[in-house]
Amino acid sequence: MFFLDIVKINHWLNARKITLNFIKKKNGGLYKKLRKKKNFKASNKELQFLLKNLNIEKNDLVLRRSLPEFIFHSKKKIDTSKRPIMRDGIHFYNYYSLPSPKGFKAPVILDILCPHNKIPKLNNGHLEQAITINLGPGNIYGRWGTDVKKKENFSKIKFNNENEKWVVGDTYLEPTFLPHTYSLVDKTPSQILSYTAKSQLQKFVDNSNLWPVLSYKNFIKDIELHGNNISFLKTYLNSRGIENHYIAEKTKISLKEINRFFRKKKLSQNKDKNILSKICKLISIDPNIFIRKKFDHDLVGKTYLSYKDSIKSIRKYKSYKVSSMSASERYPDLFGFFIKVSKKKKIKDLFYHASTHYLITSGEMYFNVNSKSQIIKKGDAIWISPFIKHGFSGKGSLIKISNGECLDYQDIYEINNIFNYKDVLKRAHKDKINWGYQK
Ligand SMILES: [Fe+2]
Repeated sequence: MFFLDIVKINHWLNARKITLNFIKKKNGGLYKKLRKKKNFKASNKELQFLLKNLNIEKNDLVLRRSLPEFIFHSKKKIDTSKRPIMRDGIHFYNYYSLPSPKGFKAPVILDILCPHNKIPKLNNGHLEQAITINLGPGNIYGRWGTDVKKKENFSKIKFNNENEKWVVGDTYLEPTFLPHTYSLVDKTPSQILSYTAKSQLQKFVDNSNLWPVLSYKNFIKDIELHGNNISFLKTYLNSRGIENHYIAEKTKISLKEINRFFRKKKLSQNKDKNILSKICKLISIDPNIFIRKKFDHDLVGKTYLSYKDSIKSIRKYKSYKVSSMSASERYPDLFGFFIKVSKKKKIKDLFYHASTHYLITSGEMYFNVNSKSQIIKKGDAIWISPFIKHGFSGKGSLIKISNGECLDYQDIYEINNIFNYKDVLKRAHKDKINWGYQK
């Protein structure tokens, strides 16, 4: 038996233009279940019937569990997730997982065990960009490249042992596929919190992994030949049947100038951007899609914020004091801040658009959510769904991090593009309405 999601089935019936009447004639039992417009248990035969007729995969129909409002894990529970990692012939890290729903990214805590007198061996990096925070109590070395004499490849990630200790330590963001590894600076042990976030490229990677091998080869060839600005613009023009002579005619720019524009690999001058915007107007498309943006980062692509600079950002936020972590315009959804809690009043003054992780870094406090208040202590962690009011009271500190899971900047961009967005958002949620030709 398979538990199927009626909302997903309805979506695919609409998309494939298959009516309940059609199903009634071929599979009466299934028809009766579908008519109730409720999630239901399907036999293997019924499932296969749907998969065949809707031309989809099992995962397109199977019901996924709804998200809880929040998940709390005590330090004790987190400690049970401990798993050692051997690397370079030594016990290199212990990993511990923070709570998250199934299929969601979750931060990990790492015990840094590589001793100070050994250069830590690099890993291979990963698709997900990450934010890393030194949790202390020691300083650590970070390594990001082969030549450790270069500052961008090897430097200290410090722990705050001075004032405002709730600003726990240095933080940095590492880009996609940057190798990284850590070692101790002296005999003081240390831990980091590392959050490998959802990659903005994940959808593209998942899809393009299914392309024929030749398609991907030609895609890379195209980008290498034309550069990514022009290559993508050209594909859009091609798919609309537009060549340079037509652009010249319509934009009143000389053909010579248009040809010169398409020979460029980079759009650097204002003149180029002016031509780009005229071409984009011709095909009704936003020119920003084709422009490669510039971001602040060091020579290996990371952004760094020392705890000293983080302290400079201390500010009052609702009933708390907070300070910033390293952030980059490149990752609009990956960020965090340090929180100091000092108010007794059991308050629920926090509310975020994306799901959020908390790690309690000191003290004993109350986590206030719904009508409940739960005691939380150093080392405990929480995952919370978006748009759930909550708050903290008592004395202590936390780290808050999020990566846009549930609602990210790409979703917001799309919502802003929708015609009649308020009605669309209301109708789209658990939509069981058929497209209108059922009888
Ligand atoms: Fe990592």
